Amino acid sequence: MRLFIDSANLDEIRTAASWGILSGVTTNPTLLAKEDPTVDVRERIREIHRLVGGHISVEVVSTDTAGMLREAEEIVSWLPEAVIKIPMTAEGLAAVRQLSRQGIPTNVTLVFSPAQAILAANAGASFVSVFLGRLDDIGNDGVRTLADICEIWERQGLEVEIIAASLRHPMHLVEAARAGADIATAPFRVLQQSLKHPLTELGLQAFLADYHRLQEAQARTRQVPLVV
Ligand code: E4P
Repeated sequence: MRLFIDSANLDEIRTAASWGILSGVTTNPTLLAKEDPTVDVRERIREIHRLVGGHISVEVVSTDTAGMLREAEEIVSWLPEAVIKIPMTAEGLAAVRQLSRQGIPTNVTLVFSPAQAILAANAGASFVSVFLGRLDDIGNDGVRTLADICEIWERQGLEVEIIAASLRHPMHLVEAARAGADIATAPFRVLQQSLKHPLTELGLQAFLADYHRLQEAQARTRQVPLVV
């Protein structure tokens, strides 16, 4: 399972990219709206892509098919590598179908059920983003839904890539991998939590302290004059 970061914050993206774990980035209008409004959105997205390379999902904000298609063409004119993120609506599916005919990759977002995922796949989506956390938030089981979709994909031999999205904690990441998602897109906080373990920190402290003690002992040994 590949890892993407779900963020539009350059510091977070730069830090996670420096760990060498990222294969891409997903953004959305909410994430972009959290950042400095004086920075041009195109420039921010291009900079994000320069930092990570690989996949970059850029979301449209039109709600009609023609508007989505116009936006998609505009986005690929300044970022040809962009994957166009399209909401799971009737108008969105029509746009996905058209973009797939034009060879422009799409990521159908806001997918909450296996039925929606099947429709997105039939429209020609390249990726489907299944939102785990938001399902959990309303008392549903996000991991179960993702696992159902992965099982259907296996059974049907579908190649559309499944992105586990809306992750809230490291166990979402683990369960997404267990279910068979191709990709997990996680906020910086979840990546950071996944990196750390108290036993790793304690273990490292002990290794360093022991090595220090060994060096001191060796230094003391060297100071002892040889008795012949
Ligand atoms: C996916 O691509 C979305 O950007 C994202 O995962 C939304 O997650 P949220 O529920 O934390 O807003």
